[in-house]
Amino acid sequence: MNYLPDSKRYQSMEYRRCGKSGLKLPAVSLGLWHNFGHVDVLENSRAILRAAFDAGITHFDLANNYGPPPGSAEENFGKLIKEDFSGYRDEMVISTKAGYYMWEGPYGEWGSKKYLVSSLDQSLRRMKLDYVDIFYHHRPDPDTPLEETMGALDLIVRQGKALYAGISNYRPEEAARALAILRELGTPCLIHQPRYSMFDRWVEGGLLDLLEKEGVGCIPFSPLEQGLLTDKYIKGIPEGSRASKSHGFLKKHQITDEKIDKILALNKIAKERGQKLAHMALSWILKNPVITSVLIGVSTVEQLEDSLLCLKNYDFSEEELQKIEEVLARRR
Ligand SMILES: NC(=O)c1ccc[n+]([C@@H]2O[C@H](COP(=O)([O-])OP(=O)(O)OC[C@H]3O[C@@H](n4cnc5c(N)ncnc54)[C@H](OP(=O)(O)O)[C@@H]3O)[C@@H](O)[C@H]2O)c1
Repeated sequence: MNYLPDSKRYQSMEYRRCGKSGLKLPAVSLGLWHNFGHVDVLENSRAILRAAFDAGITHFDLANNYGPPPGSAEENFGKLIKEDFSGYRDEMVISTKAGYYMWEGPYGEWGSKKYLVSSLDQSLRRMKLDYVDIFYHHRPDPDTPLEETMGALDLIVRQGKALYAGISNYRPEEAARALAILRELGTPCLIHQPRYSMFDRWVEGGLLDLLEKEGVGCIPFSPLEQGLLTDKYIKGIPEGSRASKSHGFLKKHQITDEKIDKILALNKIAKERGQKLAHMALSWILKNPVITSVLIGVSTVEQLEDSLLCLKNYDFSEEELQKIEEVLARRR
């Protein structure tokens, strides 16, 4: 059936300015790391994309290697864009990345200009797009000079293949150097994409301060710690969940008793706030104005609609924050 987006789609979403740039992003963005590959059911992926756009989610995040197999999330996304969203490209912010292993030989991963330029050309072909909105370097490369990697991002933006440049997984010190090089080149870094959740708070050790000072946006990934920060694993590993799938990145050994204890206690605090843990975990990130958008993944439309409820309440009292801190600090 032909897709006609909801005419009220811009009424309930909040849009936040990305650092000091001109671009605004939805407070919740959708990532296509899992659930959009050739191993997944295309009609489910289609339903998720439609529901997201209907809810005012304008930002969709990909990478060259998303699938499995690698590249297939971009292929499926390209197909769905063509079939459902071809009239709406100007209402969408699409990102992709290169940095992890993608193809054989010396030019298929890390941070050389050769790899980044070739990889983006491949991504554009797979998605059947003329340009992406944001192109990221996916992870720092210890062996390539940062000037070369940032020079490649600058070149790509000047060529019009991407409108903005971003970095991902860069620690504060290397991020500071990358931001300085990009500024010098005249292509200021738009955004940083780090992992950040209640269970992984490394960004609080200097990165968020740096991004605030430099006026760079921040879009944390895996805010639910791949599904752990919900009530789903409290009674074991449900069939069909990420931890149950052989290609899922959440491994069974990561679901420890200590984490389950914390999840149970956090679940209780969430209930007292009138939320589910999934909502509270997302609102806890969004409470900080340095955060531009929280980058979620979902395997169903129901999860998407559920997670969006985080927007209803991201005010925390001092007492609630203190209780959360106590739970997160607990050791078994
Ligand atoms: N830059 C990087 O290096 C990097 C790395 C990783 C991810 N990312 C980006 O970040 C995006 C999000 O990462 P992520 O998928 O790990 O995020 P996440 O939001 O932490 O986890 C998503 C998973 O949580 C479960 N879930 C989501 N909403 C739920 C709800 N309301 N109730 C219960 N369970 C729920 C689902 O698991 P089930 O599948 O079990 O249902 C879903 O697949 C990716 O798609 C990608 O775009 C970037």
